This record gives sequence, structure tokens and C-alpha cells, in this order.
Amino acid sequence: MNKIILITGATDGIGKETALELARMGNQIIIHGRNEQKARNTVAELKKRTNNPQISYLIADLFSLQSVMKLADLFKASFDHLDVLINNAGAVLDDNRSQTENGIEATMQLNVISPLLLSELLMPRLRSSNDGRIINMSSGTAIIAKPRMNDLNMDRINSGQTRYGISKLFVIWNTQHMAKRLKDEGINNVSVNVSHPGSVATNFGQDSNNGFINNLIYKVALKSHLMAAPSSGAATNVYLATSNDVKGFSGKFFNNKCKMIKAPTRYYNIENEEKLWNYCFNKIKPFLNR
Ligand SMILES: NC(=O)c1ccc[n+]([C@@H]2O[C@H](COP(=O)([O-])OP(=O)(O)OC[C@H]3O[C@@H](n4cnc5c(N)ncnc54)[C@H](OP(=O)(O)O)[C@@H]3O)[C@@H](O)[C@H]2O)c1
Repeated sequence: MNKIILITGATDGIGKETALELARMGNQIIIHGRNEQKARNTVAELKKRTNNPQISYLIADLFSLQSVMKLADLFKASFDHLDVLINNAGAVLDDNRSQTENGIEATMQLNVISPLLLSELLMPRLRSSNDGRIINMSSGTAIIAKPRMNDLNMDRINSGQTRYGISKLFVIWNTQHMAKRLKDEGINNVSVNVSHPGSVATNFGQDSNNGFINNLIYKVALKSHLMAAPSSGAATNVYLATSNDVKGFSGKFFNNKCKMIKAPTRYYNIENEEKLWNYCFNKIKPFLNR
């Protein structure tokens, strides 16, 4: 297998394990990170562990849409096509709300809007693949999230955990919407699906302050041996990136056992999906076609 695969947030956790497994299978891997030294170390480690020399890195801060644009430009300058984009980078942030340089609530930007921009900017390269695939990472928290459709910039949500859950629900809705748009445009060689990795022992949530209970969950439970290993969290990504079984499926939601399951429907309706898409698209519009 020699697919060209770009994985965001692959310097740690599930992204790094996904990169390891896909590199072992002989694919060409581009690791994205935001810390150059960490990215360099990850590339060296993965090359050593897999004997695969085709591993490189690109740097971008996904809190900046300008930086996402540079990431796409750098990729496009080196590769004529892209087989798989895994929008893996993501985080739960502090209860204290913060905004990025683009004036967007930081969780929304990192988990929802930057992945959308990257996908759109790299779409021409995905379309140049015989079988282009986008994989977006959601979370079990999406299932219990209660979106506030009149507060998409999350101005009035004072919990980092609540913002995180909503953002991961929005990842599902945007994925469904993008799949429909691709179909409507007659683009049959690019699919987009959602992966939900389960609860995995990584550095996720270690730097955030989310109040006593959530801090306990992230800093104690998530680091315990009760949680799945990162390799288990990577399994659905690897499956969606490589399996022939999923060819032709788009806009679908897959759990940590590589099973297609029903996406949460509680707050779903087409108006909400379109409202979210338009909100996100307006944010990324100035960064398209430059
Ligand atoms: N762990 C779980 O139980 C779990 C459950 C459900 C869903 N998920 C989802 O799975 C994905 C991976 O999570 P993980 O557990 O592997 O987390 P992790 O160990 O914290 O790794 C996150 C990765 O994203 C990168 N990243 C974070 N913020 C970034 C930014 N602003 N710009 C660029 N890169 C950034 C990190 O870079 P640095 O190394 O520089 O920090 C790291 O490489 C996330 O989308 C998460 O929401 C995780």
C-alpha cells in the first residue's frame, strides 16, 4: 500500500499511533504538528520503528487560519495528490473561554473550523486521488451534547467540556453536509467520514482546567490503565484510511470498533446542519482561493 496520508496532530496520542500503523503498512506519511522539535522527534522515532523512510512533517498552529492556509500551501507545493486526510488534532480547552486571532472561540476553531478549512483547501489534491478520503475525529461526548444554535461562537458557554462536546457534534454535522455537497457536485472519488476513537489514555485534557470533576476524569481516569491504549484509538482511523469495505460510504459515523453506527439525532435537523455549515463556511471564506 503506498497512499499519501496527512494526519493532523500526529505528534502525540491517537494521531501518532495512527501514523505508526499506517507507516508500518508502507504508506507515505506526513505528520502535522505545531511544535517543530516534537515533530522532528516523532518522524525520527516512527522511521526507526517502521523502517519506512517515507515519513515527513509539516508545522501549523490550528488556532490560526492563516497557519492552516500555509500548511495547505506547503503540502500542495510538495505533493500532486492526497489519498487520505485525517483531521485528528483536537482538544478540550479551559472553562475560561478564549478567542483566536481570527475572532473565533478557540474550541470551535481547533475542532471544527480549521479542519473544515484544511479539507476545503486540500480538496483539489484529494480529487486528484483515485480514492480520496477525509476522516474527521469526533467523540462520545457528541452523543450527549446539547448545541446552542443561537450561540455558535459559544459566547455564553462557560464550560470547556460543554464547548468540546458541542464541537464534536458539529464535526459530525459538517461531515454529513460535506458528503452531501460532494455527491451533489458529482464528486464520487472523495469520501468524508467520522471516526470516534472511544476513551483512550493519551495526553488529552492534561493541560486544561475544567473544574474538579472534569479535571479528575481527564487527569486521573484518562491516564489510568482502565482506558484503552492509543493503538486501540487509532484502529478506526486506520480502517477508514485503508479498508476496501468502506469504499463508497460517505457522511457516515464509525465507532471505535470500526462499526458504522447511527449518528446522534437528538438535536439534528437539516436547518441546524445548514446553519452550522454556513456559519463555518463564512469564517473560512476569506482564506479560500487565495
Ligand atoms: N483521548 C480520548 O479519549 C479521545 C476520545 C474521543 C475523541 N478524541 C479525539 O481524538 C483526537 C486526538 O486526541 P488525543 O487523545 O490523541 O489527544 P492528544 O494526545 O492531546 O494529541 C492531540 C494532538 O493534537 C495536537 N494539537 C492540539 N492543539 C493543536 C493546535 N492548536 N495546533 C496544532 N496541533 C494541535 C497536539 O499537538 P501537541 O503535541 O503540540 O500538543 C497533538 O499532536 C482529538 O480530536 C480528540 O478530540 C480523543
